[in-house]
Amino acid sequence: MNILAVISSKGGVGKTSIALTAGFHYSRIMKQQTLLMELDSSPGDFSILFDIECNKSLEFAVKFPHNFQNYLKKVKENLFVLKGASDPFTAENIGSDEICTLLESVSTKYQNIIIDTQTVLSRLIIDVLKISAKIILLTDYSIESLDRSLFLYASLVHRHSVKKEKIILVVNRKRMSDFFRIWDFSRISGFPISGFISYDRNFDKNSFISGGGKVFSTKLYRQLASLIDSGFGDSRVRKSGKQPALQYYCRYNNRHKKDVEESEGVLL
Ligand SMILES: Nc1ncnc2c1ncn2[C@@H]1O[C@H](COP(=O)(O)OP(=O)(O)OP(=O)(O)O)[C@@H](O)[C@H]1O
Ligand SMILES: [Mg+2]
Repeated sequence: MNILAVISSKGGVGKTSIALTAGFHYSRIMKQQTLLMELDSSPGDFSILFDIECNKSLEFAVKFPHNFQNYLKKVKENLFVLKGASDPFTAENIGSDEICTLLESVSTKYQNIIIDTQTVLSRLIIDVLKISAKIILLTDYSIESLDRSLFLYASLVHRHSVKKEKIILVVNRKRMSDFFRIWDFSRISGFPISGFISYDRNFDKNSFISGGGKVFSTKLYRQLASLIDSGFGDSRVRKSGKQPALQYYCRYNNRHKKDVEESEGVLL
């Protein structure tokens, strides 16, 4: 199952833009059957971007996994979309078995499943991250966002047992003037950055409403496509001598320990 998930711990950093652009690349350039799946019930953007009726969404597809195609919308040759659950409570009621059965069924027909997520993690998202082949952890070009991303990384790996090898850090909306700041930070944290995507004033997520064809002429598309084609930066990973994000493991563990102690205090 080739599942590629895009996550972030800060809103508006470009998860949907990157997921959709990746979907366009796999379906049109690589000519592979591709499904874009929305795990954003906050609500997400698929409904408006692709004009999807409310009865075609994830909660129905998981109920009838063998007829899941009834709930997809075809948006291009080789490219289909599945809108997220109608609200967070409905999404929370989707069981681990249900989502796994759906993904297994989908993977018999689609070579790629690209997952767009919401900023706040849910059990449903974690279930899918565990079986994803690759996870793009997206940050924007700020120290705060990178800091939150490293914290999320530690939480996924240590609390939720997501395999660290499949998580790659990608910086979106890079502006040259900030380059050294974030690069220094990455060196200090020891977390390798696998790819940079520039700020691109010609990119507009809303262009997907009118078919999305314009995306192929953007810098964002070219940089993401080259990242995908290079196996997600495996050859370009910037290595450091340290254990990746070691201090985040410690910070995460300390903060988690403190949370447990505090909640036990309340219970007592
Ligand atoms: N590299 C880029 N250059 C310029 N604009 C970008 C770039 N990446 C994303 N954007 C723009 O940033 C805005 C937010 O992007 P997007 O909606 O994809 O973020 P998101 O992480 O999915 O947000 P949310 O957390 O609300 O789901 C959009 O207007 C999009 O067009
Ligand atoms: Mg989004």
